[in-house]
Amino acid sequence: MNDALFSLKSQVVVITGAAGLLGRQHAEAVARAGGTPVLLDLHAQPVAQMAADLAAQYGVPASGWAVDITQEAEIEANCAAILARHGRIDGLVNNAANNPKVEGDGSKKFSRLENFPLEVWQADVAVGLTGAFLCAKHYGTAISRNPQGGSIVNISSDLGLIAPDQRLYRKTGLPDDQQPVKPVTYSVVKTGLIGLTRYLATYWADRSVRCNALCPGGVENNQNPAFLQEVSSRIPMGRLARPDEYQGTLLFLLSAASSYVNGAVLAADGGRSAW
Ligand SMILES: NC(=O)c1ccc[n+]([C@@H]2O[C@H](COP(=O)([O-])OP(=O)(O)OC[C@H]3O[C@@H](n4cnc5c(N)ncnc54)[C@H](O)[C@@H]3O)[C@@H](O)[C@H]2O)c1
Repeated sequence: MNDALFSLKSQVVVITGAAGLLGRQHAEAVARAGGTPVLLDLHAQPVAQMAADLAAQYGVPASGWAVDITQEAEIEANCAAILARHGRIDGLVNNAANNPKVEGDGSKKFSRLENFPLEVWQADVAVGLTGAFLCAKHYGTAISRNPQGGSIVNISSDLGLIAPDQRLYRKTGLPDDQQPVKPVTYSVVKTGLIGLTRYLATYWADRSVRCNALCPGGVENNQNPAFLQEVSSRIPMGRLARPDEYQGTLLFLLSAASSYVNGAVLAADGGRSAW
């Protein structure tokens, strides 16, 4: 990428949940813009492999680290290690979340609100919200110490803007009280991230740290045809997203192209939340 507006040359960007479906795409977006993706996920092997692949393909010193973002001590140690290795942190993508695929094959049991276990609530909030707070606290503080500031992007969802349409997940033949639903935690975590975004957008604004929320719509990922048809009928563009379709929006929010965009909640959902 030659255009300086969209360049991340020499920028170090921490991405949580980097080994997942969209985390890989975020990492590629950073690397192809000349930035250094710093990949965090629960296990070292996938992110180490990704870092090696990105380094080979894009010539950037990518690195991968095993960090459980629910554990503050792990984050603190990792932040120090990143600063020792890369010298700076310019960006943070709070991407990790428990992301249940309710529309899958139906073999998993998804808890309805009436039976939703407290432990699942706590585990989902621990990754999606507390983890994002802890990452903002440590990596964000490092960004705030950069003379030129930086950018934090919280990955919310169209379901941070609208309620899940539970009719999408209905299975024929099941009684109402056993129908699968998108769990309550998903809405709460994704909406909570918008609150965190507004807080952070103002907190370090005087140090040129911007914070924005990106609200992706659903990604096409081998869902069954009946589900795809139903969900597509609720999206003005008539389809789910390709996995690589958020790369441009993320690059915009991380780069100088969005230098005056702060506290924004940017939907990239094919128009789903406009209907
Ligand atoms: N896939 C979609 O259709 C979609 C749509 C809208 C928003 N999103 C959001 O995008 C983000 C990524 O989604 P995805 O589909 O790539 O999910 P994914 O499940 O494929 O990836 C999530 C990653 O987070 C990691 N993770 C989980 N707990 C962690 C922890 N404690 N510490 C560190 N890493 C941890 C997992 O190991 C996994 O690699 C999520 O925040 C999700 O809510 C996804």
